[in-house]
Amino acid sequence: MMGRSNQVLSRVVRAGLGLASLLLAAAALAACGASGTPLPDPSLSPAGHAGLETMRSLGCGSCHGANGQGVDGLGPSLQSLLGSQTTLSDGSVVVADADYIRLAISDPEAQIVQGFGLPMPPYRLDEVDVDALLMLFEELE
Ligand code: HEC
Repeated sequence: MMGRSNQVLSRVVRAGLGLASLLLAAAALAACGASGTPLPDPSLSPAGHAGLETMRSLGCGSCHGANGQGVDGLGPSLQSLLGSQTTLSDGSVVVADADYIRLAISDPEAQIVQGFGLPMPPYRLDEVDVDALLMLFEELE
């Protein structure tokens, strides 16, 4: 009887420890991402956060802002971009769907956003990173 409840107790304690270390790890991650930059919208899902980490680690934030909010003269906002309409330097208007965003990253010169003289540098990203970014853009509002 005693042995059994001890077992249960130790299982509960172990589960609690596991949860605590998970929370610690999450807090450490959040602290890393927050180094000097504001924390993201708490409404981001785990996938959205993964995308945000990808965006920050690739340095996109230096021109697009730590949360993709855009930086005057350096890079347009990436918030609410996916599915919206973007005006290009030649005056044409395109829908910023996933294909557009892939091209905007891999071959920025192909379509330059109006108001930005210099295109951004091209990035050769692997699919995992592009998918993570697209998950983020789906949630960035
Ligand atoms: C050196 C500054 C710079 C960096 C770094 C940078 N960008 Fe850009 N980005 C720009 C500029 C300038 C434009 C607008 C001109 C153009 O279309 O190329 C742009 C445009 C875009 C667009 C199209 C936006 C729209 O409104 O249609 C996307 C998407 C984008 N960038 C994503 C990224 C991602 C993802 C990264 C990181 C992998 C990144 N950028 C890194 C400067 C930058």
